[in-house]
Amino acid sequence: MYQASETRYQNMKYNYTGNSGLKLPVVSLGLWHNFGTTGSFDNMTAMCETAFDLGITHFDLANNYGPVYGAAEENFGRILKKTLAPYRDELVISTKAGYDMWPGPYGIGGSRKYLVASLDQSLRRMGLDYVDIYYHHRPDRETPIEETARALDQIVRSGKALYIGISNYNKEQTEAIKALFDEMGTPFIINQRRYSMFDRAIETDGLKDYAHKNGVGIITFSPLAQGLLTDRYLEGIPADSRVRTDGRFLKESAITPERLDKVRRLNALAKGRGETLAEMALSWILRDGDITSVLIGASKPSQILENAAIVRSAPFTEEERAKIEEILAN
Ligand SMILES: NC(=O)c1ccc[n+]([C@@H]2O[C@H](COP(=O)([O-])OP(=O)(O)OC[C@H]3O[C@@H](n4cnc5c(N)ncnc54)[C@H](OP(=O)(O)O)[C@@H]3O)[C@@H](O)[C@H]2O)c1
Repeated sequence: MYQASETRYQNMKYNYTGNSGLKLPVVSLGLWHNFGTTGSFDNMTAMCETAFDLGITHFDLANNYGPVYGAAEENFGRILKKTLAPYRDELVISTKAGYDMWPGPYGIGGSRKYLVASLDQSLRRMGLDYVDIYYHHRPDRETPIEETARALDQIVRSGKALYIGISNYNKEQTEAIKALFDEMGTPFIINQRRYSMFDRAIETDGLKDYAHKNGVGIITFSPLAQGLLTDRYLEGIPADSRVRTDGRFLKESAITPERLDKVRRLNALAKGRGETLAEMALSWILRDGDITSVLIGASKPSQILENAAIVRSAPFTEEERAKIEEILAN
């Protein structure tokens, strides 16, 4: 059912994650949407198999991906059991805790109590002994940062995670927790942040430069702005699109005439490069060589196939870069 490994690894490029020895594929697959109880298990399985066959070795989860919370981890566990488990050593599996997961004061935040219990639950749902990367999903101002850092450090030492990541931490928060990890010798390697042509906060808050200069990897989520930076919404809102099938996080109100106008102009530019807008939007994230991986979502295997084609994308000319800036500004 799977391709021979020689074919698989010819199709993908890999970057070292910050200063670590861990390589991630330039395209990784996230299971935030379409892996919950409302998705088709056959489609989920096909998406994971397609991804892995393309050399996408990294699958990103979180305790609360669903719906319902925990369902994406459970379904991924079923997929592992069905087909992927024999390849465990060829996979980088991550999960996270930080947002609300179970009722009461211990199912949210950044306490040792929550982080340790949540990872144990995640491992049970996926049927794994360890994850490759365990993330604190978002900063928690109520918990001393030292407690969060020490809990994550202890988790690695317990063998339940190989590396530590943080997510949604800005530059200052990253600097602060990195100093603690450095003192303890914790294998902290990556920050997961939103980044796309439509959301450039990691440039303005300085994280993009800081991470590159300080050996911290960056994996960027929602690189297609949840589908807006594709040709998906150019002719109306398709019934099978995220806006219609889910709508919790991407709402119809996000598809404004101004946005669509930019998308149209970007789409024309992409065509001129001989690629789709999705491909151009993903390649653009990797343009400076300082982002480890783009973390895509998908609703069907064909999207993964299309997005993985960026390994063959041409570098941007100065003129193309300027044109993109002009479109985004106006
Ligand atoms: N750390 C955090 O706080 C955080 C937050 C959000 C996400 N994440 C991670 O990032 C991952 C990706 O986020 P995301 O799903 O928002 O990423 P995204 O890649 O920006 O959006 C994915 C959606 O775009 C559409 N799409 C993808 N490829 C396409 C193509 N070639 N042509 C047309 N449409 C295409 C699909 O939507 P349709 O359903 O319309 O087909 C797909 O579900 C998540 O799964 C999760 O692992 C992390």
